[in-house]
Amino acid sequence: MFPSEIPVEKLRHASGVIISGGPHSVYDDSSPVVERGLMMSGIPVLGICYGQQLISQLLGGSVRKGDKGEFGLAILDLLGTNDSQILHGVRDHQQIWMSHRDVVTAPPAGFRVLATTSTCETAAIEDPVRRLYGVQFHPEVVHTTQGTRILENFVFNICGCEKDWNPGQRIALVEDQIRQTVGDRNVFFFVSGGVDSTVAFTLCLRALGPARVRGVYVDTGLMREGETEFVEHTFAQFGAGVVEAARCEEEFLQPLEQVRDPELKRHVIGEQFVRVQERIIESRGLLDGHWILGQGTIYPDTIESGGTLGVSKAATIKTHHNRVAGIQKLMESGRIVEPLADFYKDEVRAIGRQLNLPAELLNRHPFPGPGLAIRCMCSEVEEPVRRVPEGWLIPVRSVGVQGDSRSYAPVLAIEAFPDESSLRQAEATELINRTAGVNRVIAGVSVREPMEHQRVFVSSITHGRLNLLRRADAIVREMCRQSGFEAKVWQFPVILIPLGAGESRDSVVLRPIQSVDGMTADSIAMPGELLHEMSARLMSIPDIAGIYYDLTHKPPGTIEWE
Ligand code: XMP
Repeated sequence: MFPSEIPVEKLRHASGVIISGGPHSVYDDSSPVVERGLMMSGIPVLGICYGQQLISQLLGGSVRKGDKGEFGLAILDLLGTNDSQILHGVRDHQQIWMSHRDVVTAPPAGFRVLATTSTCETAAIEDPVRRLYGVQFHPEVVHTTQGTRILENFVFNICGCEKDWNPGQRIALVEDQIRQTVGDRNVFFFVSGGVDSTVAFTLCLRALGPARVRGVYVDTGLMREGETEFVEHTFAQFGAGVVEAARCEEEFLQPLEQVRDPELKRHVIGEQFVRVQERIIESRGLLDGHWILGQGTIYPDTIESGGTLGVSKAATIKTHHNRVAGIQKLMESGRIVEPLADFYKDEVRAIGRQLNLPAELLNRHPFPGPGLAIRCMCSEVEEPVRRVPEGWLIPVRSVGVQGDSRSYAPVLAIEAFPDESSLRQAEATELINRTAGVNRVIAGVSVREPMEHQRVFVSSITHGRLNLLRRADAIVREMCRQSGFEAKVWQFPVILIPLGAGESRDSVVLRPIQSVDGMTADSIAMPGELLHEMSARLMSIPDIAGIYYDLTHKPPGTIEWE
């Protein structure tokens, strides 16, 4: 992968070049270009989306803004071109995925148009003599049913590459790479107990042996019940002292004492992490040149941080907060090994299975970095709930996404559903649209005292409340695992809200959701019997005042409450 401005000279060794899509318009001044000479070099070139437009513009064709955009699924109609090289073997009338507004209105001389859609007259073009090809749609996404076929045509038939990648050998290859990168030094990891860092760590151990690899797991006191023990147990197989747990509970909980704002919580936790990591790096002499840093970075992390191998044009979506000075120093001096940097999550799981890591670890649901702190709601004031026509207004604010921006608003509680097996998610969305100032709807499953007696109490993050949340979360997790419901959800946050009556001053919210990537999510129903038993077990804890069920999709609510 190279920046688009790379001189053609440096591509002489390439069997072929693919010019990717991107968010720019070829007719804007600052948009990325490739050297025109690339198209005259004899190297086969495939342009995808922006790539097709760029090839067309550079060779004298024309590109304009279309009358309307074409986003999502479309049907590819072939123009009777059985002898096309790039669309060889592709069947007519197949589903493709489009995402563009600009279109090639006239391809350059020497090109012919191979296919169209109802919106796009130049969905695929080729010049077989110069071996130049373009597609407006995206063959690289799963929604383009014959996309792989098209990429195969280019890579194997046109460029003449050989199929020499064998997933069965990838572990051996990665281990070789680790040995090369590390040389005679040792590797140090901060492990989290998550899939990526565990798989990366295990690969380093196999490649280098247990004497040369060390890990520290930082227990922030914001972990789930049994998490530290789980991590210790997972790594114990590699020998005593290979991974150590650093118990730093007080260092995190003390500065969080009076912190109630969600973003401030994240900030405080991030800062403390930096301090703890820095201390560990210094106290262990990890900057002396004998150590390099191991990280479980996977391919999407690299893209999201805008850092694909020096390619500068990917947008920065999320900058990782744990780039502390010590870590930065190791990285700047090239002292870093990231064995999974080329892999996607599903491949990491497959490698983990090949390494015989426990399924319990590989199938874990995502868990947020700031841990239980963002599932433990706090209130600065004591306030009663209020009757409104739609239900009860609970003055606990949670985060939502509405119209692409963040909302932070109170919650609407509706009373226990008449039929427990049918949850009212559709109704919830409608209620949120109808009720001004709320972004989330919960349904009461079991409440100790009548709603009119419930109030929100002054509360913060304390040992007691964290322990209560940990217990409730552990009960939910255990019952989900035993009933098999765990496999049906993508994530199941359990939230503690300071809502209650009398001596019981906290309630539990259940939030099982289904999602593909966490960007959007559906609140999903739970088998009635399981919900009933779960609620009964949770209510057997005297400090818990009630159990509620979050009916809100994302949008308008986020998955986490903060
Ligand atoms: P939201 O709440 O934004 O969550 O719908 C989407 C996904 O991201 C996780 N999440 C976080 N993960 N640090 C993390 O590492 C965070 O601060 C954070 N906030 C949310 C959340 O658990 C869900 O999977």
